[in-house]
This record gives sequence, structure tokens and C-alpha cells, in this order.
Amino acid sequence: MNLTDSRVLVIGGAGFVGSHLVDQLIQEPVREIVVLDNLVRGSRTNLREAMTDARVRLVEGSIGDLELLRDLVREADCVFHLAALWLYECVHQPRAALDVNVVGTFNVIEAACEARVKKLVYSSSASVYGDAVFTPMTEEHPFNNRTMYGATKIAGEQFLRAFYDQRQLDYVGLRYMNVYGPRMDYKGAYVSVIMKVLDRIEQGRPPVIFGDGSQAYDFIHVSDVARANILAAKSDATDEFFNVGTGQKTTIRELVGMLLELTGSDLQPEYRPETTAFVTHRLADTVKAEKMLGFSAEVGLDEGLRSVIEWRRQDVVAVSR
Ligand SMILES: NC(=O)c1ccc[n+]([C@@H]2O[C@H](COP(=O)([O-])OP(=O)(O)OC[C@H]3O[C@@H](n4cnc5c(N)ncnc54)[C@H](O)[C@@H]3O)[C@@H](O)[C@H]2O)c1
Repeated sequence: MNLTDSRVLVIGGAGFVGSHLVDQLIQEPVREIVVLDNLVRGSRTNLREAMTDARVRLVEGSIGDLELLRDLVREADCVFHLAALWLYECVHQPRAALDVNVVGTFNVIEAACEARVKKLVYSSSASVYGDAVFTPMTEEHPFNNRTMYGATKIAGEQFLRAFYDQRQLDYVGLRYMNVYGPRMDYKGAYVSVIMKVLDRIEQGRPPVIFGDGSQAYDFIHVSDVARANILAAKSDATDEFFNVGTGQKTTIRELVGMLLELTGSDLQPEYRPETTAFVTHRLADTVKAEKMLGFSAEVGLDEGLRSVIEWRRQDVVAVSR
């Protein structure tokens, strides 16, 4: 769809990926950008710069509030749906995961259908694939998922398929690999491996590697993920799912080594027995997204990790002021 003069709704737009998406949408000739977020994880701080643009408005509320949701979706030409509970929240609170990720997503899809929005872009996840049966994982890779989080993302994808066939809702689903970058949560209960390693380095303690560190993932920078969302909205693609990754595999051992080097630390990693890795191998096949969306990742891991370290330094200073 053409974003010129369009009204855009970003659900979950105060979060990590969503706030970067809002930052990039500002560069587009859109008429207005409404963010719907209940701020359970996202924050106003994430949108501080974006909110200086008069086209951006934050509505604090939940996708569980049908009336509010319908009102906002009715006013939108394009909807980006990023609101969800995370992997570990889903482990510990499966019913909450059902409410938000499944029922909430259903609410969004139904509202988008009723309002006849031109495009819905859904944040799915590589978690739908579970542990890789083959790599790189194409979009045809089986749903080898064994987590509640992945189950909720599969449910969302299947609702979209059904609503496309029955009600002709145009949508694209994006299966992100491991997203990292500035504004990643590092203070909450559920933080990523990159932040855990940086925590330990900051404390002068050796970073911990569980198992032998050969677990390998596809780390993609948040600015690339935000750009993939905009390309998905603009493209003619519909009823399609795309991997959003770099196609580059990095082991945990390599990642920790890079973080130690980039922070100038001479600490040595500490190896501990493997505990709860849900997935040990993940690598995107990027061909489909490149062909159909014109998307390929631009930020390399070295540059991307530097951006996280730099942002974290500034954030710590800002918070301690
Ligand atoms: N970060 C990753 O590595 C990754 C990987 C794959 C998929 N994803 C998916 O991408 C999307 C964005 O992830 P993120 O990393 O930015 O997470 P995030 O938690 O930072 O963002 C999600 C946002 O949704 C909001 N939210 C939660 N429940 C809500 C509700 N009921 N109503 C309204 N808003 C609600 C939160 O406050 C938060 O701002 C999610 O759907 C996530 O599952 C993320």
C-alpha cells in the first residue's frame, strides 16, 4: 500500500521494536501515527523523540479493550501489530499469554477486518520454527515449536490465514530472528543474553556461558526489523510470512567474545551446565524477504553491538541523573 497521507496505528509501539518503527515511520509521508500501548513493558521514554513530531500520538490502553481498539483501528489505513508477552512471560504466565497474544491478536485481526484496513503487518517470530530441523530455515520449515510463546505466534498466523480466506484481510506476517539494539530491556525480569553478558562485564564478573557455547542464532538489529515492517506495509505482498534475519549465524561463544572485545574487557567467560535453552540453532533463509519485500539486513553484528553498548552507557547516565 501507499503510505502517503495514510493514518497508521502501531500497536505495541512504545516497546523495543515498535518505538524504532515509529521513529522510521516519521521519515515517511504519513498523515498520523497513533501508538496503542498499555506500557506493561514499553515506555514513554522510548517515544520521547518521536513524540516531538506533531503527527505522533500515544494512547495508553490494551488490545483487550475492544471498544478502544475498534475506535482506533477504524481510524487507521494501516495497522502494525507488535503487542505481545515475551517468551519467559509466556512460560510463567501461560493464561496471560493466551489473553494477550492469542485473544488480543484475534481482537486486532477482527477489528482490522471490520474496519477494512488496507494492510495489517503482524509481528510473528522465528519461535514458530522451534529448534531448526534444517538450516538456513526457509519459510517452509516445519512448526517445530514446543513453547507456549511459539504456540501463541502460530495461533496468530493461523487466524490471519483464516481471515484472509474468509474476509479478504490483506496482511503480512514477519518472523523475526533474535532482535537486538538500543532500547532493549535490561532492567526487567526477562532480559536477553546480550544484556546479561553486558551486566556481568559491567560488574567486573565473568560472563556466563551455559553449555559449551555452540548454540547459534541469527541476531538482527532492531533498525533492520523496523525497516522490514515498513517494506512489508508498502509491498504488494499479502497472505505471506517472511523471515526477518541476517542469514548470518553467531554462536554464543562468538557473541560473548565480541562483547568482551568491544567493551575492552579482559574477563574470561565462565562455563556452566546447560539449563533451559528452548532453541539451540536458528538461522534465517533470507531469500524470500529479499525477493518479495526488497529487504536485506544492513547492520552488521559488530556495528550493531556497538550501538547497544553506546546506548546502554548513555541510558545509565540518563537514569542516574
Ligand atoms: N525482540 C525479539 O527478539 C523478538 C523476536 C521475535 C518476535 N518478536 C515479536 O516482536 C514484537 C515486538 O517485540 P519487542 O521486542 O518490541 O517487545 P516489547 O515487549 O518491547 O514490545 C511489546 C509492546 O507491547 C505492549 N503490550 C503488551 N501487552 C499489551 C496489551 N495487552 N495491549 C497493548 N499493548 C501491549 C508492551 O507494553 C510493549 O510496549 C512482539 O510481538 C514479539 O513477540 C520479538
